[in-house]
Amino acid sequence: MQLTRIPGLLFGGDYNPEQWPEEVWAQDAKLMAEAGVNIATVAVFSWSRLEPRPGAYDFGWLDRVLDLLHEHGIAADLATATATPPPWLIREHPHVRPVDANGTLLDFGSRQGYCPSSPVFRAATARLARVMAQRYGQHPALAMWHISNEYADHTLECFCDESARHFRTWLADRYASIDGLDAAWGTSCWGQHYTAFDQVNPPRKAPGPINPTQLLDWRRFCSDALLECFEVERAILREVTPDVPVTTNFMSILPGLDYWKWAAAEDLVSDDAYPDPADPTSHVGAALSYDLMRSLKDRPWLLLEQAPSAVSWRAVNVPKPAGMMRLHSLQALAHGADGVMFFQWRQAVYGPEKFHSALLPHAGVRSRGWQDTLRLGKDLEKLAEIAGTRTAADVALVLDWDSWWGLAAPESMPSARLDLKDLLAAWYAPLHARGIAVDLVSPDHDLTGRRLVIAPNLYLCTAEQAARLAAFDGHLIVGPFSGVVDTADHVHPGGAPGPLRELLGVSVDEFRPIPDGATETVRHADASTSTVRRWTEWLAVDDASVLARYRGGDLDGQAAITRRGRVTYLGCLLDDVSPVLSDVLTRAGVHPVADVPPGVEACRRDGADAHYLFLLNHGTTAASVTLREPGRDLLTGRDLRDRVEIGPRDAVVLRIAQEGEK
Ligand code: GAL
Repeated sequence: MQLTRIPGLLFGGDYNPEQWPEEVWAQDAKLMAEAGVNIATVAVFSWSRLEPRPGAYDFGWLDRVLDLLHEHGIAADLATATATPPPWLIREHPHVRPVDANGTLLDFGSRQGYCPSSPVFRAATARLARVMAQRYGQHPALAMWHISNEYADHTLECFCDESARHFRTWLADRYASIDGLDAAWGTSCWGQHYTAFDQVNPPRKAPGPINPTQLLDWRRFCSDALLECFEVERAILREVTPDVPVTTNFMSILPGLDYWKWAAAEDLVSDDAYPDPADPTSHVGAALSYDLMRSLKDRPWLLLEQAPSAVSWRAVNVPKPAGMMRLHSLQALAHGADGVMFFQWRQAVYGPEKFHSALLPHAGVRSRGWQDTLRLGKDLEKLAEIAGTRTAADVALVLDWDSWWGLAAPESMPSARLDLKDLLAAWYAPLHARGIAVDLVSPDHDLTGRRLVIAPNLYLCTAEQAARLAAFDGHLIVGPFSGVVDTADHVHPGGAPGPLRELLGVSVDEFRPIPDGATETVRHADASTSTVRRWTEWLAVDDASVLARYRGGDLDGQAAITRRGRVTYLGCLLDDVSPVLSDVLTRAGVHPVADVPPGVEACRRDGADAHYLFLLNHGTTAASVTLREPGRDLLTGRDLRDRVEIGPRDAVVLRIAQEGEK
């Protein structure tokens, strides 16, 4: 299935013509066509230009932009333009603006300055979305709708009175009665017993630690409140243009929004990714995000924004070294993207992003950046046939936003050093280094067919989720501090691992986080040792074999890692999970898509009559890879067999025909 009606891979970026005199537009369109750009994201921040006064529209300029793009064969990812409310709306309704946890009403002068719960804001976005859909729904350039922009980037939450009212309605829906809320929030603690919903507030700045269930419900509410904003616009677009796909750009793997829930509301998943060029391992984090994006709908997705070179929002904005822009683009494709797009097309000359790189830099067509743009356009044409091909993964990593949010109540946790993204990355990085394909799953997903499922952490685990894991017939690894609480953040009877106790065959007697700088040592059955830095548990072994024990310290001789049948439990956070992972991968019969040396990433996509092996050398020296099967490198046209040399920051994309195919 294609992402949009555009055949092949998508290539383009954010285009902000309103920042330029009209004479420049013709040159933009000509250069886009020359580079092979086939899609431009338009009107993301254009509300104040499209509706300069309430209900008075100025669409002339956007009409001309869309016509021009279309004449040059370029489609539009057309934004509903609702990412920044215009000054007149703020002037008429000052309380459209968000309020922070300290009660400060934030001022205009940046972007995304809206309260997600504001009925005035929502109604104004609905009006604009309808007018946009009616005006451009039939425009031949329109390929997809882009609602708002990066929800939760600057405004994840608002603490105003309107938000408080909305939060109370959300809570009343969830708990039906104030007694239900009191029970769930455990308000008998610290004298918080409520007798009416109108006494309940968002978790504004308070004298001490805030009720953790209130915080957890607030995180759920904030994700839902923004999703409602999205749905207000989506419903209108679906009504007026039912055949045009709708997206909003996600921000890679971040705690703010429950992307499982969000992706279900979209037609296609799109993502913005900004791996730091100064960090030699940032491509590993990007790979994890990309695998999440593919997994959200289990189909190809779109890299909607990345930087051609430097960004403008880090303390030090390092440009990408030669080859990295191309390599990182190919990486997104390797992980299932059907297009690569950038922020932005033409480098700005004013505003906060004037030093942010662009496909067409300040230095124009003489720049090295422009040569990179041209080269990438050609490469994407050569790879057109991979569009729509899929990825199969035997291994799945469990990611649950409830657990992520539950852990993020640092004032009431045994340790503030547990972040779910870090815990995921600790398993993902060694899988990635081995060239093993990984999907992300929610604990509510069907796990059938996986060989190995890894739950790095399930702090919050329901009886249903535990039952699903127990019914899974593959290999399972569960990380520490799992099965601790229920959906209300109440500790399960008997303590951790709660509903997982029987499955794991262990009970946690005591959590023992390690102070910063200290370490513990774990000794495996083969006498090798691992270092543990952040977390240990005193385990009581009920019905499991012990794979590793602590050596030295208070836990000397106690079980650290256990196994019951196909289920391995780690009561500690190993610095390096490789000893456990290698063993379980072998038992589960999981194989890499290719045997790769350090620094080379291997991914596979499957088509109807061929599969595609991406070999990406992220290193700064050449690497040699042994090939299991011969194939043709789509980037160079070379036929390759046995071994291939891949230059620094270079890649090959091998087309390997199925038996009997050419
Ligand atoms: C994104 C945003 C873009 C642009 C970009 C710069 O977060 O969606 O509008 O600001 O960052 O890196």
